[in-house]
Amino acid sequence: MSDVIAVLGLGPMGRSLTSALLRAGRPAVVWNRTPGRAGDLLDRGARWAAGPAEALEAASVALICVRNYAAVASFLPVRTSTVLVNLTSGRPAEARDLAARDLPYLDGAILSPAPAIGTPAATILCSGPPDLFEQAGPVLRDLAPTTVLVGADPGAAAAYETALLDLFAMSVGGLVHAFAMADAEGIAPRSFAPLAKPMAGLLTEQIDRFAEQLTEGRFPAAISSVASMSSTLEHLVDAADGHDLDSGALRALRAIAARAVAAGHGDSGYAALSTVIRDRGGERGDRRPPARS
Ligand SMILES: NC(=O)c1ccc[n+]([C@@H]2O[C@H](COP(=O)([O-])OP(=O)(O)OC[C@H]3O[C@@H](n4cnc5c(N)ncnc54)[C@H](OP(=O)(O)O)[C@@H]3O)[C@@H](O)[C@H]2O)c1
Repeated sequence: MSDVIAVLGLGPMGRSLTSALLRAGRPAVVWNRTPGRAGDLLDRGARWAAGPAEALEAASVALICVRNYAAVASFLPVRTSTVLVNLTSGRPAEARDLAARDLPYLDGAILSPAPAIGTPAATILCSGPPDLFEQAGPVLRDLAPTTVLVGADPGAAAAYETALLDLFAMSVGGLVHAFAMADAEGIAPRSFAPLAKPMAGLLTEQIDRFAEQLTEGRFPAAISSVASMSSTLEHLVDAADGHDLDSGALRALRAIAARAVAAGHGDSGYAALSTVIRDRGGERGDRRPPARS
């Protein structure tokens, strides 16, 4: 079996994956839709392939990392014996659609930024057939020491990634919103930053407690209640409107907290809001029950 690894897609992440493969002493063949994006990878020993088929022919494992799943679908072969590891970000349903093709297909999600690839900080989640993971696992561990098969369901890695990106996007949203609010209040970014850090740290502390409460389905308000949060959000929307800030995100959160209070969660802890977001306060009757493990 060839020890060559193919990389299809040379955006910032594809280049970083290839660079880490070369550092680990693995021969690499690369392809990108637009030629000329290989940077110094060819000088460092990577071989350029004229197309995806040529790259796959040379390799035992192929890492695919492009903009989205539609792009992957546009060049995926009809058949190949090369193990395909699709590290492109996308929705679980898209991963399942690609896995339904009769190909040796593993789906994956990279949970680290491009510069972290090949360092101890990198994490990759995979999902799909365990025998394919056995073949691709050693290659992936050269890129990310924490490489985990999260399920045989091909959509599992994308499902974790989607929920984690939800956390990241909403957190960054909170951060930029807070800087805007601070600015409107005449607080300089550098004065705000040191006090923002411990506030953001509170989020980390809450993760295990929320997981516990959501698993048990009980939401004791040990520290603060949904009713209190609801009142805080009224104050924040007023403050944002007073400064003519975009208050759309705060209004959306205020509406969720208000629905939670109306649904009887006023005295519950914040984790109860998750159940209200999920079932839209009982508006939808077509939901499967919440996960319990
Ligand atoms: N960058 C990061 O730190 C990071 C972290 C975690 C996950 N990811 C994920 O990794 C994937 C790649 O990200 P990226 O940062 O490398 O850059 P990107 O800008 O998301 O993707 C650029 C790559 O996609 C290719 N591409 C776009 N449309 C295509 C098409 N229709 N057919 C073939 N190739 C196409 C581009 O080729 P051309 O050069 O020809 O345009 C280029 O190789 C994304 O799904 C991203 O979410 C990235």
